[in-house]
Amino acid sequence: MSSKSPAKTVFITGCSSGIGLAAAKLFQAEGWNVAATMRNPADHQGLKDLPNVICPALDVTDTAAIDRALKETQARFGRIDVVVNNAGYALMGAFETLDAEQVRRQFDTNVFGLMEVTRAALPLFRAQGAGTVVNVSSMVGRIPLPLYSIYNASKHAVEGFTEGLTYELDPLGIRVKLVEPGAVNTNFFGRSADRANKTGVDAYNEYSEYQFSVMDRTGPGGSTPEDAAKVILRAANDASRRLRYSVGPDAMMLLASRRVMPETLFRTVIRLCLTPAAFNSVGRVLYKVD
Ligand SMILES: NC(=O)c1ccc[n+]([C@@H]2O[C@H](COP(=O)([O-])OP(=O)(O)OC[C@H]3O[C@@H](n4cnc5c(N)ncnc54)[C@H](OP(=O)(O)O)[C@@H]3O)[C@@H](O)[C@H]2O)c1
Repeated sequence: MSSKSPAKTVFITGCSSGIGLAAAKLFQAEGWNVAATMRNPADHQGLKDLPNVICPALDVTDTAAIDRALKETQARFGRIDVVVNNAGYALMGAFETLDAEQVRRQFDTNVFGLMEVTRAALPLFRAQGAGTVVNVSSMVGRIPLPLYSIYNASKHAVEGFTEGLTYELDPLGIRVKLVEPGAVNTNFFGRSADRANKTGVDAYNEYSEYQFSVMDRTGPGGSTPEDAAKVILRAANDASRRLRYSVGPDAMMLLASRRVMPETLFRTVIRLCLTPAAFNSVGRVLYKVD
């Protein structure tokens, strides 16, 4: 950003760790004003000490808190140019082992939270005649994987919502973007994940054990949060109508394969890649697993 142009303001959800934290740091380093929102501002990881950064409290499932956080940001920085809907987590496990409350919480955060933050930002963007919403989706928003059925569904909802919005918002000068990471080494696979078997159904235990071991090996070998942050910044700065931006070689390779392969063949390849023998070779290339 040129030192002559006035600083732009970004409002980011879920900045206490991972991609949100890296994005807040990168935008700040690039000269932006940053509202690095998080559920508990005590988790600010040093962000509060940086110039032109505020850390409003925001749980995206709390609509009153969304309004408060946006107002605090406007009061401090005057306007908001970009909203990054990053907050989210994964509900993992075979569908039958998950109860309705877990499913609802997944959608409340990943889908309805993102929609309500967007709803609250749009009047500001319309009044300005400009603004950009960057929604952090996932590779699984277009390529469903096993034991992620509800997380897949939440990110598919984000994809459908966002693509539909482009037609409504383009004429108003408002851009909407989707960032689609593959595996990124964050708390996503650990602290943030909900893997609880709440129904006691044990029919999937053997399958789950193997697939969870695959997930636990992909995360640490995936992209870095800083890689994802760079793509978010690129999407935020891109005034074109481009909608999708992938992150990492796994997302790029799988999304490209999905485009060119017949669906049945693609699903066979995914099934084969997840067998122990194949995963050990594919994983070595994509995720540096031993
Ligand atoms: N890591 C990956 O492999 C990967 C791949 C594709 C997409 N993604 C997406 O990337 C986004 C960021 O995840 P990450 O990988 O950076 O994981 P992370 O390190 O676990 O960070 C997730 C962030 O979301 C916050 N969060 C969760 N529920 C929230 C709520 N109700 N309200 C506000 N904040 C909430 C967490 O806050 P607390 O600290 O308070 O829990 C945390 O700051 C998510 O949308 C995720 O689905 C991640």
